[in-house]
Amino acid sequence: MNPMLDKIRELRDEIEKVSVSAKEEVEELRIKYISKKGLLGQLFNEFKDVPAELKKEVGQAINELKELAVNKINELKDSFEGNDQEMSGIDLTMPGEPMKLGSRHPLSIVKNEMIDIFTRLGFTIAEGPEIEDDWHVFSALNFPPEHPARDMQDTFFIEKNPDVLLRTHTSSVQIRVMEKTQPPIRAIFPGRVFRNEAISARSHCIFHQIEGLYVDENVSFADLKQTLLYFARELFGEKSQIRLRPSYFPFTEPSAEMDVSCSICGGTGCNVCKYTGWLEILGCGMVDPNVLEACNIDSKKYTGFAFGMGIERITMLKYGIKDIRHFFENDVRFLKQFESAN
Ligand code: DAH
Repeated sequence: MNPMLDKIRELRDEIEKVSVSAKEEVEELRIKYISKKGLLGQLFNEFKDVPAELKKEVGQAINELKELAVNKINELKDSFEGNDQEMSGIDLTMPGEPMKLGSRHPLSIVKNEMIDIFTRLGFTIAEGPEIEDDWHVFSALNFPPEHPARDMQDTFFIEKNPDVLLRTHTSSVQIRVMEKTQPPIRAIFPGRVFRNEAISARSHCIFHQIEGLYVDENVSFADLKQTLLYFARELFGEKSQIRLRPSYFPFTEPSAEMDVSCSICGGTGCNVCKYTGWLEILGCGMVDPNVLEACNIDSKKYTGFAFGMGIERITMLKYGIKDIRHFFENDVRFLKQFESAN
C-alpha cells in the first residue's frame, strides 16, 4: 500500500478523535491541519509524487480528509459560540418576562363613571384654574366678607397677596363659565380642591370634587331633584332612594343636602351609614340670583340649579374604604385591588 494512504488514514483517526477545551485551541487546530502550511497542505504538496495509477485513489482520500477536517473544526467553533451566548446570560429560547399592567386609580374610575352619567344627560365638561382669586371662589358666589371660609384657617392664601388663593371648591368654575357664556348652560366641572385642614382618616388638605350647573329659562327644583335621582340610581344601583334635607350655601337659595339610601346595607342600617340607612353625598340648590347677576346673566329671565360633591367621599362609600389617606399614598397593594373594576 502507498505510504500516503497510511498517513491519510492516521490523520483521519486523529481528527475524528480530536477534542478541545478552549476556543483558542480550535484556531490552533485549524492552523495545524487546514492552513496552507498545515498537514493537509503538506499532503497536497506530496501528491505530485504519487504514482499515476494511484493518483485517483489518493486524491479522493485527501479531499475526503480535508472535508472531514473542515467540518470538525467548524463544529468545534460552533460549540464555543453557543457557550458564549449562554455565558452572556441571553437565552433567546426563554419565554419573555410577563409585563405587569398598571391599573386606574380608584378616584379616576369613579370620576369617569360620574362623568359618563352626566354626559348621558347632555352635560358638557369644563375645567378652571386651581390657583384662583377671591372673586371666583368667594365674592361672586355671594359669600359675605366676614364668612368663615375666607379665614386663613380654612383657605390657603399666598402671604404676599391675599387675593391669590387655592380654590376651596369647584364652585369657582361656575363663575368662570357663566362669565364667558350666556345660558343655556349645562355642564359639570371635575377638579382638585384645597383646604387648610389637618390630615386624618376622614379629611385631607387636597381632594377632588365634581360640580354641576344647569342654567336656562324655567329650570326648577323638580329638574334638580330628578337629575340627582337619576344620577344616584346610575351610580349606586336602580333601587337607590334619595332624600333632600334643607341646608344653607351662600350661592344657592333654597339649598339642600342630598342623602342616598345606603348601598352597602340597602337602607336597613350598617356601620358605613352609622345605622341611619342614609349616606350624605352632596350639596345642591337653586343658583342664587345674586350669583347670576354677578356674571351678567339676567336673573329675571333665567334660573338654574347647581350641585357639588366630593369624589373621595363617594369612592369611599362605594368601595367601603375607611381611610382617605389611602388615595394619596399610592401603595400598589391598595391600587391593584381596583384592576378589575375598570
Ligand atoms: N361648594 C360646596 C362645598 O364645597 C358644595 C356645593 C354645595 C356645591 C351646594 C354646589 C351647591 O354647587 O349648590 O362644600
